[in-house]
Amino acid sequence: AKDPVRVLVTGAAGQIGYALVPMIARGLMLGPDQPVILHMLDIEPAVEALNGVKMELIDSALPLLKGIVATTDVVEACKGVNIAIMVGGFPRKEGMERKDVMSKNASIYKEQASALEQHAAENCKVLVVANPANTNALILKEFAPSIPEKNVTCLTRLDHNRALGQIAERLGVHVSNVKNVIIWGNHSSAQYPDVNHATVTTSAGEKPVRELTADDNWLSTEFITTVQQRGAAIIKARKLSSALSAASAACDHIHDWVLGTPKGTWVSMGVYSDGSYGIQPGLIYSFPVTCQNGEWSIVQGLKIDDFSREKMKATEKELIEEKELAYSCLK
Ligand code: NAI
Repeated sequence: AKDPVRVLVTGAAGQIGYALVPMIARGLMLGPDQPVILHMLDIEPAVEALNGVKMELIDSALPLLKGIVATTDVVEACKGVNIAIMVGGFPRKEGMERKDVMSKNASIYKEQASALEQHAAENCKVLVVANPANTNALILKEFAPSIPEKNVTCLTRLDHNRALGQIAERLGVHVSNVKNVIIWGNHSSAQYPDVNHATVTTSAGEKPVRELTADDNWLSTEFITTVQQRGAAIIKARKLSSALSAASAACDHIHDWVLGTPKGTWVSMGVYSDGSYGIQPGLIYSFPVTCQNGEWSIVQGLKIDDFSREKMKATEKELIEEKELAYSCLK
């Protein structure tokens, strides 16, 4: 039998946490034959709720779940973890300035970076979910210099999956037959969902989405805004943010990173920019990536038209501004 993998979930008593921990403990993240030990971190005001989640995990009698660490102590939470899913953060409340939210989260991610750096297992893979996800990940990376930059990522897979879903609905095909959309840039409404390289598997072979969509205008307008604003639409409908789909996407992200992407398929991940596609190095920017042997690499050589270039630059600009704001908060 395999040794258990230690998976940290921060903000585990929150909405996404509640949806995510059972998915991990049922093997949806690391596979049906991989035992796990769950490390769950939250803060003092949530300690009772956190304990409630622990009780429910025990009550679920899960065969793959070999242990539970539920704590408010960051050091205890990070000890020996192989995978860290950072969901905990300070939410934007009514009347708060962007700078206030950034400031709270930058200091949380700076502190948790040191704890991970000192106490996580070697080669720990980190996924930041909490918003502003790209910039929280950047702060975490910069304040944990001994964690390789390849190991720090942020979640844009939810946006990627939303794009696949919209195309499948529009074309009346199953979502599993749609692939290779791209989310470029920031996990914010300035992201650019790009379908120029996306394809659909049909009985006549693989066809570009652009060829199958008679209404090209939809792809350049409504499709983009629907994906960009889907989070807000869910909040409006549920009066709560998208927790189930975020948790599901976090599983997909780690699953593909660790176990690999299928041949001919890429996914979107927020990763440390190396300057690919002319994007400023040293930002956490969402790119198309393939994964093999536990490592991602950015898909190279895709043709970028002027329409795309402009949108990729706009989301880059927002990330540069966020980075500056985060640093100004930490001074
Ligand atoms: P939530 O408010 O229900 O849960 C957040 C949890 O984090 C709470 O239990 C809170 O006590 C905890 N927390 C706060 N500060 C902490 C700290 N310093 N250490 C550990 N835990 C801490 O929020 P929800 O709905 O679960 O969302 C979590 C985050 O994920 C939010 O920032 C949200 O904006 C973001 N999000 C990101 C998505 C993405 O695609 N990247 C999609 C959906 C949400």
